[in-house]
Amino acid sequence: MMKLSRRKLFKLGLLGGVAGTSSLAYGNLIERHQLTLEKVEVPLKLEHSTLAGLRIAMVSDFHFDELQEGALIARCVEKINAQQPDLIILCGDYVSHDHEPVEPLAQHLAKLTAPLGVFAVLGNHDHWAGASQVTRQLTRAGIQVLRNQAETLTYRHSPFQLAGLGSVWVGDAHLKTALPLLSKKSLPAILAVHEPDFFDRINQDPRIALQLSGHTHGGQVCAPFYGAMRLPSWGKNYISGLYRRHHSHIYVTRGVGTLFPHVRFCCPPEISLLTLTAPV
Ligand SMILES: [Fe+2]
Repeated sequence: MMKLSRRKLFKLGLLGGVAGTSSLAYGNLIERHQLTLEKVEVPLKLEHSTLAGLRIAMVSDFHFDELQEGALIARCVEKINAQQPDLIILCGDYVSHDHEPVEPLAQHLAKLTAPLGVFAVLGNHDHWAGASQVTRQLTRAGIQVLRNQAETLTYRHSPFQLAGLGSVWVGDAHLKTALPLLSKKSLPAILAVHEPDFFDRINQDPRIALQLSGHTHGGQVCAPFYGAMRLPSWGKNYISGLYRRHHSHIYVTRGVGTLFPHVRFCCPPEISLLTLTAPV
């Protein structure tokens, strides 16, 4: 086996250090700001076909704090409005540890506009930072927060239900409260819940056409040919993009913000535009 001198080991260490620092700088200064619009078609099952054509913009995991400039959020809002979606859904984690930054964030989000409305659910960080304060600021911005509630909306003369749950991680997700079983045979439903792995609990419910979630950040730091380096609780089975099980689909967005170390690698921030399409 080749023996390395102390001098060579020092040089290798130095090279590794430079590569690591360069990657961190790239992830923090460049990729973290490379906002991507993902356009995705979601083919519906026959029983949900009245939703065909509906265009939903979704965005999640802002993790807004005093370190973040509002420019990325302003670009998010501008890009979403430019797509003219029918409906906008925000999937939680507006803040990280402290509820106060939700106020300046909500001032940006107040500019979002869609004919069927702008709706939100809370994430685990919102619950930890102060669910009532986060809810109050979003409501003031004209955004309707759904916490184990459903709203009946109408698209092209056909009603459907939009349900939103609290955070699964903190034990505040109650599907039966939002969509009582009595309505099981009634309207098609879209479900927003922050943590994607809740999908394993709903995929036998024939009412739910689509679950929308965030939470994973797509891994935030991904390795080529490997994927997400680290994933949170309730975000290990459905990591990023579109999945289908039984009657339903789930779409998981990578979100726009970051948690420590505030870098993104092979995983740029995302806003998502989903178009529900007719069954084939
Ligand atoms: Fe989260």
